[in-house]
Amino acid sequence: MSNESLANLLKEERRFAPPAALAEQANVTAEAYEQARADRLGFWAEQARRLSWHTEPTQTLDWSNPPFAKWFADGRLNVAYNCVDRHVENGLGDRVALHFEGEPGDTRSITYAQLQSEVSRAANALLELGVRPGDRVAIYLPMIPEAVVSMLACARIGAPHSVVFGGFSADALATRIKDADARVVITADGGFRRGKPSALKPAVDEALTRPGTEDVRSVLVVRRTGQEDIAWTEGRDLWWHDLVDRQSDRHVPEAFDAEHPLFILYTSGTTGKPKGILHTSGGYLTQISYTHHAVFDLKPESDVFWCTADVGWVTGHSYIVYGPLSNGATEVLYEGTPDTPHRGRWWEIVQKYGVTVLYTAPTAIRAAMKWGDDIPAGFDLSSLRVLGSVGEPINPEAWVWYREHIGGGRTPVVDTWWQTETGGIMISPLPGVTATKPGSAQVPIPGIAATVVDDEAREVPNGSGGYLVLTEPWPSMLRTIWGDDQRFLDTYWSRFEGRYFAGDGAKKDDDGDIWLLGRVDDVMLVSGHNISTTEVESALVSHPRVAEAAVVGATDPQTTQAICAFVILRGDEDASADESALVEELRAHVAKQLGPIAKPKRILPVAELPKTRSGKIMRRLLRDVAEQRTLGDVTTLTDSSVMDLIQAKLPAAPAED
Ligand code: WT7
Repeated sequence: MSNESLANLLKEERRFAPPAALAEQANVTAEAYEQARADRLGFWAEQARRLSWHTEPTQTLDWSNPPFAKWFADGRLNVAYNCVDRHVENGLGDRVALHFEGEPGDTRSITYAQLQSEVSRAANALLELGVRPGDRVAIYLPMIPEAVVSMLACARIGAPHSVVFGGFSADALATRIKDADARVVITADGGFRRGKPSALKPAVDEALTRPGTEDVRSVLVVRRTGQEDIAWTEGRDLWWHDLVDRQSDRHVPEAFDAEHPLFILYTSGTTGKPKGILHTSGGYLTQISYTHHAVFDLKPESDVFWCTADVGWVTGHSYIVYGPLSNGATEVLYEGTPDTPHRGRWWEIVQKYGVTVLYTAPTAIRAAMKWGDDIPAGFDLSSLRVLGSVGEPINPEAWVWYREHIGGGRTPVVDTWWQTETGGIMISPLPGVTATKPGSAQVPIPGIAATVVDDEAREVPNGSGGYLVLTEPWPSMLRTIWGDDQRFLDTYWSRFEGRYFAGDGAKKDDDGDIWLLGRVDDVMLVSGHNISTTEVESALVSHPRVAEAAVVGATDPQTTQAICAFVILRGDEDASADESALVEELRAHVAKQLGPIAKPKRILPVAELPKTRSGKIMRRLLRDVAEQRTLGDVTTLTDSSVMDLIQAKLPAAPAED
């Protein structure tokens, strides 16, 4: 598509109606909104029947001690049974659950029957290690089938897991082991990343030398890379293939209360120690199963689902493990990076497995845009029928590019807003119902209540912005912060009485559709105006020469804050030749799109932006650079050398006026 037609498309605020064929067969129709509006709790009670309960719940929501919710409290179930065994009992044992694709190109397809054996063996192994219901197990693994098996084995025996992303350091791992007081750590010798083995076990060894980790009795180690020089602590360390493989493949799942803890997952946040977000069983699985069914229109008998997230993030928990497997889906699990051994690797995987539903993050879409349209064009992507996005606001250009170049101009794109804390998708179009708008997450899904309020907690009218709040409890909500109820109250429930404050800014457009504007900490105050970093970034990316942008507000004596933008240019554009002219052009472009108040004071073309491992831009660090301060904590950066490169660009003369 030419840039001109793209600009027109966005100007018209065109909506994309659901494809007729998809709408006719859709799992969920507009009726669901009506039904949930008429009887919200009845709606969720009905969704809970998607699951197989050992004891059916008679209660839906217990909100007698807000904000500590109980859902389906008198029901009992086993989460792993719901994700595995019941499908085998229903005659689907031969259906592939996981198509695993290792980065080096090794593959394994695992059926539901095989998954049942693996999970049962692993559960028996954990029992042999003395793990009892309620004991915490830390999981620090690459994206290999054993990660999924371990999580399900924990769920099966009622031992809450705490998955720690394999890219985190020994320090981060130690903090999380200590906070959750884990008894067992499941890890691997290493995983493959960018064509090379990357060790994991040494980080576990180091973490376990730290005070507060003494309660770890056993370390179970999967052999993945076969690295030879691996340190071993006798009596503590055990090979997975020695312990798990000799177990019986029979294990009778026990039922647990709906509110039995399922997992703890740490979110870093910008300040303080990481928060252990606690999720429980029945309500969580209900919402995850329903949203996977509704938002992706998933047909388990024919779809091949692929969520590209890592299991170390909530997206991997909910939409690799618990959602797809509770629905009996077939899915892809990929170990590596999108550009190894070449930049078409993802599209090659889509072609190979006939992926029909793809769920990924804007950062990955923008990287693919930057690499060039010709790369996906070299593969057959015609199997795709629904595309999803998650993790940060998706700018309209990336949204349209995704639909056009990955979805062949046919597929709905669902922009799904949610958080580690919400457990599952909260705001999103439904692919068979909603006429989608590039860049907007649009509407709360059926059964979810969200709105945008001002400083005084008043709902804002259409066409205005404010704070995103959730106004009613939902089944997959966090129950607390592990070991710190007070912090749970302070962080989420104190800003607006009786409402959950998500920490995100948002606006409602003239149709009442919700647009996410990023974390409120990222909103800038410029000469008395609130300006969202997301909007300025989106305006910059709408310029044909900009691939990616990060905007921060830097303290400024005249205007309180001054807008400072860092931009990555598209493809092989070379800025050095005409950098100052381009910077002027970009400033004028933003002024034209958003008004002169939003014109960045400074724009710095850079080669890379600092990102966390989950792909979020670390604006805090860019603010340090813009204010010429010493850099804050860089330990969660994927690549800390990025900051050296950016700092080397300074001081650049600030543009005038
Ligand atoms: C924060 C939560 C949800 C799983 C992955 C991230 C941002 C997430 C969107 C979206 C705009 C989004 C928000 C949110 N975010 N999805 N579709 N549009 N912003 O989980 O690490 O807990 O981050 O990610 O700022 O609060 P997380």
